[in-house]
Parts: sequence; C-alpha cells; structure tokens
Amino acid sequence: MSTATATRQSPIETQTLRRLSGFKPTGELHLGNYLGAIRPTLDAQRTTESIVMIADLHALTAEHDPQRLRRLTREALATLLAAGTAPTTVCYVQSDVPEHAELHYLLECATGHGEAARMIQFKERVGRQPVRLSLLTYPVLMAADILLHDADEVPVGDDQAQHLELARDVANRFNTRYGRTFVVPRGASPGVAARVMDLTDPTAKMGKSSTSDAGVIGLLDEPDTVRRKVMRAVTDPGGQVVYDPDRRPGLANLLEILAACERDQPDVVALRFDSYARLKEALVDAIVDVLRPIQGRYRGIVAERGLLEDIRRDGAERARDRAARTVARAKAAIGL
Ligand code: TRP
Repeated sequence: MSTATATRQSPIETQTLRRLSGFKPTGELHLGNYLGAIRPTLDAQRTTESIVMIADLHALTAEHDPQRLRRLTREALATLLAAGTAPTTVCYVQSDVPEHAELHYLLECATGHGEAARMIQFKERVGRQPVRLSLLTYPVLMAADILLHDADEVPVGDDQAQHLELARDVANRFNTRYGRTFVVPRGASPGVAARVMDLTDPTAKMGKSSTSDAGVIGLLDEPDTVRRKVMRAVTDPGGQVVYDPDRRPGLANLLEILAACERDQPDVVALRFDSYARLKEALVDAIVDVLRPIQGRYRGIVAERGLLEDIRRDGAERARDRAARTVARAKAAIGL
C-alpha cells in the first residue's frame, strides 16, 4: 500500500504534531507575547509544524479604527517574521483566508447559544456596555481557526483556556454527530515566563491592563523607551533581591522576565543582585539584547518594497491549501 498517498487522502492529517498560535492585532506585539508565545513557538519549530496567524477578524469584536487595525496587522506580520519563523512555519493573516468565516458559520450551527453566552469574557462585558454580536460568537470563530488546521496543540494563556475548551466541545460534538471530521485540539502550556505581567501592575498580564502602556515593553520599543519603562517598574518594599512571587509580585515579575530573557531560573538570577537598581540595569540590558536582532530584521523587512506583501500572499496561499480541504470535509459531513 502506498502509505504516503493513503496518509494524504485520509480524512484527518495526523502525521506531525501541529501547533497553531494566534495573535490579535489590537495593540503592538510586546515582550509578553514574545517570551510567552512567540519564542516557545520558535523553539518548537524543530519538532513541530507551526502555524502562526494574525487574528485580524478577532480585532473587529470591539470598537476599532480601520486605519489602525490595518497598520497593526502589517506591523504584527513583519514583527513575527523578524522574530524568526522557520521556512516550515506558515505565517499568515486570518482575513486573507476566507475559509475561517466559512467554517465559523458551520460551527455556529453546532454550538448552543447558552454555550457561547457562558464565556466569561462575554459575560464580563455584556450588559455593562453596548457590545457587538461578534463578541458573543468570536469563541466559535476561534474554534474555526484551530479546527481548520487540524491543530493538535494550541498555546493559550489562562484568559483563553475557556475558549479552547469550547473548541474541544464543538469538535467532539461535530465528530459524534456527523462523523470524524476534526482533530480535537489540546492546550499547550507555554512554560516558564508564560505570564509576563505589566511592569506598573503585577496583577495584570502584560498587554491586558487597561490603564496605559507604561508597563508594556513593545517589541519595537527603542532602548531608551525600554530603559524608562523598566526604571519606573513597580517593585515592592524591602530592599533585598529575593524571588517571592506571593509577597513580592512586582520584583518577582522583573526576575521572571530577566530569567526568561537569559533562559535561566528566577530564583537563580536573584542571587546575582544586591540591589533593585542593579537588577533593573541588568534587565534593561537583557531586554535590549533580546529586541535588537528582531528590530534589525524588522527594519530590513519593511525597507524592501513589496517584500511584506509577497510574503503575506504566500502565507495565505499555504494556509488556504489545508483550510479548503478541511472546509470541504466539514461541508460534506454536515450535509451540504
Ligand atoms: N482569541 C485569542 C486572543 O484574544 C486570539 C486567537 C484567535 C487565537 N484565534 C486563535 C489564539 C486561535 C489561539 C488560536 O488572544
């Protein structure tokens, strides 16, 4: 039997471990995205087939500015490429692949209203302010993003864990009712420094605090900006540098970021410092060292006219290939 052909034509492709990461372009990509999601994906590229998607459709679920969204999407794509995706990694923009919307609708027909309305992110906002209908349905779109690619693994933070559960439920239900169509995905723990916190508020994840961007290190921030933000980071009273996340969360966050940058452990790096000031100096240097090569490649990518557009088109084509096959399978199963 020709196994290669059999594998390719089997309903679900399960040969290599496949991982999908999604980034919503509602703000600039930041150090938390990099250490918690982008770098682990880059590290895994050797053993895992990776798909990196800029989830621009998801950015429409709340009040948005079209010009800003277009700019942030472009910037995110260039930044992700600059971070160093391997040739085996598919990097693309969600709205370039219409199959997302197509599968979204099919999955809406396999999801209960109550199931979607139970999502914490929806419940937190609905009733308090006017919300778009898409805020209710976007977890189903996220399920479509994941199932479209037969992804086995999805790195998600705590805030997205419930949405991943929904994707699993919908996949299982669809498979049970209409025959095995989708791979049921699981969450991948992003590991150390999965949770980089806001520098001005160690109780909020970096990028999720609504107050300001003073506590968020952008991947494109200049060294001076990095320095200013780190120097103003909140620490905790008590001058000794010890790693104690419960009692010294601000300090612990700085140690975790430094350790992540240096691929070390926070309690180990803590031993090197006798003052907050020295720790902050070392942290500035470590962050700038991480950002410098990314920013250099970023400038190269955006400087070359048409390059980003070409890469974007190529990524979409590669993503559509598999997406179209999954949608065809789902349509056939559901009776279309
Ligand atoms: N909803 C995710 C967020 O807000 C972004 C996202 C969209 C995503 N589609 C995805 C993440 C698919 C992982 C897989 O952060």
